[in-house]
Formats: sequence, structure tokens, C-alpha cells
Amino acid sequence: MSPTIRPRRLRQSAPMRRLVAETRIHPAQLVLPMFVAEGLSEPRPIGSMPGQVQHTLDSAASEVERAIEAGVGGVMLFGVPEAKDAVGSGATDPDGILNRATAFLAERFGDATVIQTDLCLDEFTDHGHCGVLADDGSVDNDATLERYAAMAVAQAESGSQLLGLSGMMDGQVERVRAALDEAGFEQTAILGYSAKYASALYGPFREAVDSSLTGDRKTYQQDPANRREGLREALLDLAEGADIVMVKPASLYLDVLADVAAASDVPVWAYQVSGEYAMVEAAAANGWIDRDRMIAESLTSIVRAGADVVLTYWAIEQAQLLGTHGLGLGTTGARA
Ligand code: PBG
Repeated sequence: MSPTIRPRRLRQSAPMRRLVAETRIHPAQLVLPMFVAEGLSEPRPIGSMPGQVQHTLDSAASEVERAIEAGVGGVMLFGVPEAKDAVGSGATDPDGILNRATAFLAERFGDATVIQTDLCLDEFTDHGHCGVLADDGSVDNDATLERYAAMAVAQAESGSQLLGLSGMMDGQVERVRAALDEAGFEQTAILGYSAKYASALYGPFREAVDSSLTGDRKTYQQDPANRREGLREALLDLAEGADIVMVKPASLYLDVLADVAAASDVPVWAYQVSGEYAMVEAAAANGWIDRDRMIAESLTSIVRAGADVVLTYWAIEQAQLLGTHGLGLGTTGARA
């Protein structure tokens, strides 16, 4: 007997597939993470992230301009300071590289895009941890909250419009919200990196920011084994007043992302991290994988799982593609 129900009807041609695609990505849904380094005279390529660089202030400005032209939703800035110390003084210094870059870019582009900043101490501490250390060498949660509070005010003063709290300290959203409000920055928004896992996928990023870390972050970032806990972390951030919540990394944590998307009443973002980028670029450079299809499939899957916005190092390139062709998965290829 031949079937009467034929799902293949809707797959028979590129225009048909395009018409019925359930997931579409708009350039404004992509956010570009960027590294701005102190003391560079020209941009420095990041070996483990082909195509990505540590920026000077000037090259960062050109890159933000390109991002805006491509229709990218915003940029997330990371600072790479020359000097580090135990408490990450550079993070709260208005002349610290991240705050300086933020001011420089916010003044030029703050009306055209959303300038965002990473709020975490790891780029600024000589031990490389995301917080300050107690006498026994452990990361001191509550002492770190005071550093984050000061860092938040410094970033807001520099003109950051959205603070990305990536340190995974308990109570960080509540503490930062209070500090911002007290300083008169009620309009500065908070992105909670709510469910952030201790992942091997951050490897290339550690090169990108010249990380000093020895050891790991397993006492504050989450255990990859835990799905329920990812939702709990997101619900806590919502209760503490996060304006946006995030799941990170993206591709290996789509279950967590779907859970959070189902429960959240604020936007849900996902971070396609350095290792997700590097794996595709490396395999593609070897001719082992179709780079463009891989990128489109990965982004589509992250959005399909529930992300409203994706932080991705491919943001500009993908926004340019989307802008011109409105591409999505299943939209290319011959009729077959
Ligand atoms: C912490 C931070 C990290 C990343 C973003 N924010 C590193 C870490 O947690 O070790 C990783 C991003 C990436 O891998 O692309 N400031």
C-alpha cells in the first residue's frame, strides 16, 4: 500500500523548504564577542581562533562599524590588560583597558548598537580566577560580589548598556542590580550568564585573553552532568532581577537551553563559545567538514532549541549572509 501521508511533500524543493522552515535567524539575533587588548600597536591574531583577533581601540572601532553595517544586534567586549593583580584592579579602574575601550566605543556607537561588557574578574586577576581568593586559596564568593559591584558601576559609567555577568558567583545578579541602582544606573541592563558550565570548550578563549589560570573553575561553574541545576540557576537569576538569562556553552547544552527557554519570562540567550568556533574552523581547514553548512546548522540548532539571541564569533559573516540571502537551513540545494 502506498502512503497517503507524505511529509516529503514539504521538502521537495528549495522554495518549499524555505516556505515551511520553522526556524529563521535575523541578523539582530547575533551578538559579536570582541577582545580589546592593552598595549597593542596593531591587531594580534588569536592562533586557536582563526579569523579572530585581539583588537586595538582603532581596529575595534572598525569592527564595530562592520558589525553595525551587517545588522548585528550588539557587541560584547572583553578586555585584555597588560598588568594583573590578585584583586583584578584593572577591572574597576576607569583607565583599565575594558573600561577605556567601552567608553571609546560607546561614545562613537552607543546610539547605533548595544555595547555590552563582560563583567568578570578573570581577565584581570594574576591567578586567573573569576573572583578574589580567600586565605585558603578558594574563590571567596561574598568578597567577589563587592568587586563585581564596583566593576558594574565602573562599566556603567563607561557607557556599557548591558553587563554580562559571567563569573558564576552566588547572588551576583542581586548584588550588581543593587549597586547599579544605588549609583543611579537604573537603565543599565543585566545579562546573567545563568547556566554556565565548567567546559573544555573555553580552551581557545583562554588564549584569546592571555589567561593566567592554572587549575579549573569547577567550584563555581557548573558540572556538565547537571541539567536540573541549569534551570535552577536561571530561575535564581530571574528572581534576582536579571533582564536576560543565558546558557553557555550552546551546542552541547541544548537540553538546558530548551528547559530555560520554556521557563523564562525574559529573553534567553546562548553563547556559542570559542571551542565551538575552533572545532568547526579546524575541521574545515582540514577539508573534513563543510564549514558554511556547519555554521548554519549550528546556529539554526541553537535558535531552534530556544535561544532568542546567540553570541557567536561568526556574527558579522553570518549577518552579512542572512542580510543578503535570508538563508536558513534547507533553503539551498537543488530540487531533489
Ligand atoms: C569569563 C568568560 C569566559 C568566557 C566568557 N566569559 C571564560 C571562562 O569562563 O573560563 C568563554 C568564552 C568563550 O570560550 O568563547 N570571563
